[in-house]
This record gives sequence, C-alpha cells and structure tokens, in this order.
Amino acid sequence: MPMQPRDTPPEEPAAAPAAGTAGPVGAPRTADATYDVLVVGGGVIGLVTAWQAARRGLATAVADPAPDGGAAQVAAGMLAAVTELHYGEEALLALNLAAAERYPAFAAELAEASGRDIGYRRCGALSVALDADDRAQLRELHGFQQRLGLSAEWLGGSECRRLEPMLAPGVRGGLRVDGDHQTDPRLLTVALLAACERAGVAFHRSLAARLRVTGSGTAERAVGAELADGTRIAAGQTVLAAGSRSGRLAGVPEAVRPPVRPVKGQVVRLRMPGAGTPFLSRTVRAVVRGSSVYLVPRESGELVIGATSEELGWDTTVTAGGVYELLRDAHELLPGLTELPLVETGAGLRPGSPDNAPLLGPTALPGLHLATGHYRNGVLLTPVTGDALAAVLTGGELPDVARPFAATRFAGARQHHEGRHA
Ligand code: GLY
Repeated sequence: MPMQPRDTPPEEPAAAPAAGTAGPVGAPRTADATYDVLVVGGGVIGLVTAWQAARRGLATAVADPAPDGGAAQVAAGMLAAVTELHYGEEALLALNLAAAERYPAFAAELAEASGRDIGYRRCGALSVALDADDRAQLRELHGFQQRLGLSAEWLGGSECRRLEPMLAPGVRGGLRVDGDHQTDPRLLTVALLAACERAGVAFHRSLAARLRVTGSGTAERAVGAELADGTRIAAGQTVLAAGSRSGRLAGVPEAVRPPVRPVKGQVVRLRMPGAGTPFLSRTVRAVVRGSSVYLVPRESGELVIGATSEELGWDTTVTAGGVYELLRDAHELLPGLTELPLVETGAGLRPGSPDNAPLLGPTALPGLHLATGHYRNGVLLTPVTGDALAAVLTGGELPDVARPFAATRFAGARQHHEGRHA
C-alpha cells in the first residue's frame, strides 16, 4: 500500500515532520499533501533515495510524470569503475570502487525488498586495442591503473580472442578486468519501483514545477514543491534528483542551483543468438578512431552497444550518423554482429557536472538536498547514492566516501564566477 500523505487540511500549516528530521520553519499555509521527504525525479537515483528514506521510516513521496523513465532506460549498465577510469578522476574512482563493492549486497537487498532480480552479472570486462595507437593508449591506461593499485591484466591479441572468439583477428591486445561487472538498468528501475511501492512511497505522477521556499535571508528554507497538476506538496526535506533537468526547477535560488548539463548518449540494441551459440560473454570496450565504444551482452540475449557523447543541449534525436558510428566501430571489434537483429535504438541525457562527479547531500538552503550530476556513472553509483542520502535525510553526515562529492562544493566557484561578471 502506498504511504498516505500526512493529512493536512487546506489553509493549515504543514504538519511537523517525523522525529529526527528538521521541521519546516515557516512552512507554507497550504498543502495538498505533506511528507517528511519529497524526491523530485523518479529515475534510478530518485527511486533509490526514496526507497532508502522510506525504509528508515520517513514518509516519502516521489514527484515524476513517468517514474520509470530517465537516463537509465537507455544506459547499458556497465559497472566499470576500472575500465572506465579517466585521468584526473582519482577521487571519483574511490566512490566508484565503493559502489562496485556494494553492488552484490545491494542487489540482494533490493531483490528481497522488491521480489525482482536486477540482472546483476559478474561477467568481467575486456578493453581491446585495434591498432598500434590504441595499443599504446591502452598500455598507458594499464600503467595508470597499476599505479593506483587496480587489478587489470594485460593480454596479447590471441589471448583476447581465446577469451572472446568472436573478436576481430586484428585485435592487437587488451586489458582484462575481472572485477568490472554489469546490471540491467531497466530491471533495476522496475525493482526500485516495486521496492518503493512496498515501502510505502507515494508517487505523484506530475512534473515538479517550482520549489517552495519560505522565509528570507538566513531564515530561507525549502519546504516542498508545487507540481504541474497544481498539487502543493509540503515536505520537511526535498531532494532534487531530476538528472540532467535538475538545474531547471523554478524557484531554486541561484546560489544552490546544481550546475548540471545534458550530455546526449545514443545506444543501439541487438539480439544475440540463443543459448548454445555463444557470441560474447563479457563487456568489451575499445577506443576506435578516438571514440569509445562498448558492447554489453546480457544473459537475456540483448547486446547493448553504446554510446555516443554529444553536447547538444536537450536534443534526444536518434540520428543516422550516431547509429552508423556505433555500428561501424562495433563492427570493427566484432565483425559477426552485422548478422544480428537490430531491435532498438535510443538516446538519453547524462547529467554532466563540472568535475564529472555527483552532487550529494545538503545544499546551503536548509531543507534542500541534491542527488544529481552522476554523468557516466548513474547506474554504478545508485547504491552508494541511496546510502549517502539516507544518512543525511535521517540527520546524519555524508558517509566518508561521499564527502568529496558534497552538493555545496561548487558554491564558492559560482559566487566567484558571478562576481566577475557582475
Ligand atoms: N558509462 C557509460 C556511458 O556513460 O556511456
């Protein structure tokens, strides 16, 4: 049964939140529904936040017109902390590794809470090189991984093909990473929705139109949101978890507005042959002519090929060029894939942040938290995001591993930037 909103008569002050949460100072005079926690956005990050909050006894609601939408519907679901390592992202690596370590227990907890499997598969990954330049780049990445103490094994071309016989004969070498796995983001979403419903999370299927803020100066406080359908929600704490749209909610004061932008990714889905005809057993990735491509084989037979990375604003058009480039590069790695049925193409928007890492926890505006900016790692970071937000929503601190990703970390830079342009 969904948790009923706290019963607040019209024209009355909002009800006090549950024990252990901060009360809305100067709450709005009217509310159609009142909760301890309102989560704006029902993608995997919003859902895991809502689920974890509700599990801890907080009356929780999610506002989203389509809570099973979001970037995860397009994502391939690689849990690739090591193979997706980028220079300059060492701090993020620690969070990604913590998330990868948390995944098995998270998958089990979620399966128990929802009765659903999330397709968590300990398949490992292989990054391969097709020419001498790719090989040199991959060797350099391997050196970087080794300096950071990460586990990755260098293989020659024939060893790569022994592992994955469908790889092109031209593969010159590769990095085997047995600790990078996968989950199915669509199954993850379904499971999170079911877990939320079982935990009593209420769903308001409408877009959040405006953050409700009361008071002024140091007494200013977020106290919920108004939805596009006219519903006024009062909440002791509001979590902005709307992915790439998180910076667009009206009413959010400029000083705490999350600096996220949409980064488009196009993805293609093929169907592999049935059991008995192994096509690909683990995630394979490569950089082909400077663009990275990855192939994620699921137990269901789905083969996800991704992803483009395009800074084109809010555009989600699937283009002939995007699909062509993905298939062209994937074909160089696995020539046999042109025989496979093409079952779907899609495009989604990653929530990019200035340092490619998420923004988590309280903002400088009391009552407003962020859980956004996960960029390339939303599916991987789902468990640790849920844990981090649950900690702060129940009055605690961000866990140590999440502390470098505090939602407030860009506030100084923004003020400096605004000052320079004043
Ligand atoms: N992590 C894969 C991507 O963002 O495309």
